Amino acid sequence: MSLSVKHLLGIKELNQQDIQTVFRTADNFKQVLQRPIKKVPTLRDTTIANIFFENSTRTRISFELAEKRLSADVINFSASGSSVSKGETLIDTVNNILAMKVDMVVMRHSASGAPWFLSRHIDASIINAGDGTNEHPTQALLDAYSMREKLGNLKGKRVAIIGDIMHSRVALSNIFCLQKLGAEVMVAGPPTLIPKHIESLGVKPEYDVKKALAWCDVANVLRIQLERQHKPLFSTLREYALYYGINSDMLRSLEKEIVIMHPGPINRGVEINSDVADSGQSIILDQVQNGVAIRMAVIYLLSGKPTELGE
Ligand code: CP
Repeated sequence: MSLSVKHLLGIKELNQQDIQTVFRTADNFKQVLQRPIKKVPTLRDTTIANIFFENSTRTRISFELAEKRLSADVINFSASGSSVSKGETLIDTVNNILAMKVDMVVMRHSASGAPWFLSRHIDASIINAGDGTNEHPTQALLDAYSMREKLGNLKGKRVAIIGDIMHSRVALSNIFCLQKLGAEVMVAGPPTLIPKHIESLGVKPEYDVKKALAWCDVANVLRIQLERQHKPLFSTLREYALYYGINSDMLRSLEKEIVIMHPGPINRGVEINSDVADSGQSIILDQVQNGVAIRMAVIYLLSGKPTELGE
């Protein structure tokens, strides 16, 4: 069992078989995580560096937990408080970490393409934990895995990704992943937050969120990324919430029950109301739980150390 790639830089480079291999491996690790001892010795001779140049709660903790559940040695690096502030380059920083006999790098960076750039300069496998507005591949894998758990085979399922599509690496990775699995994808939100050429990806844009909800089986709701918006793209957060925020009245008016997802962090009362985020239709915390098994699977498959799973 292995993947067709050395690094996980994006979903774009994976084929459908890779995605199914990650899912099958995650199924095994999910069983491990139900046991009283939630750990396997598979990577006890492997050291992994989590290198985060941008803030994170879920992804960082999830990777660290996944690595520890696989018995890897783990080091954590944050750009803040490091020698990056003294002018050290990305390649020098990573090569210094690798000189300490590190085998694999998990990296988040605010620059799109940073993990790709690094992969041209180092030998260790790299897992992209989110690069700028480009890709967040493990988020898309855990999202699709969570949808599959809830709805079965995703072929022909309709997924609406709603919110700030323009600045979202989650949106792009989800589009690639869902299409490779045969799902139909729509993006919805204000025209200023949807890239002009999104249709070239085979995705239908919709500017009326109620129509998107009526169309879909799953709504994956995204945060407004104010930190990446350098000029105003809508009037106020209050106006955004009024026209594009998902509330329980909207869900009640549908003739079906759709699945609600959100990659986090949530801005309650902006893109999603608490009565939706915390409802029985929401699988937001299932996504977080599945993230550990998915990341264990990706790390294991890229480690080049296949052993009996579930030892
Ligand atoms: N979903 C996600 O990437 O969350 P964090 O930014 O907290 O890691």
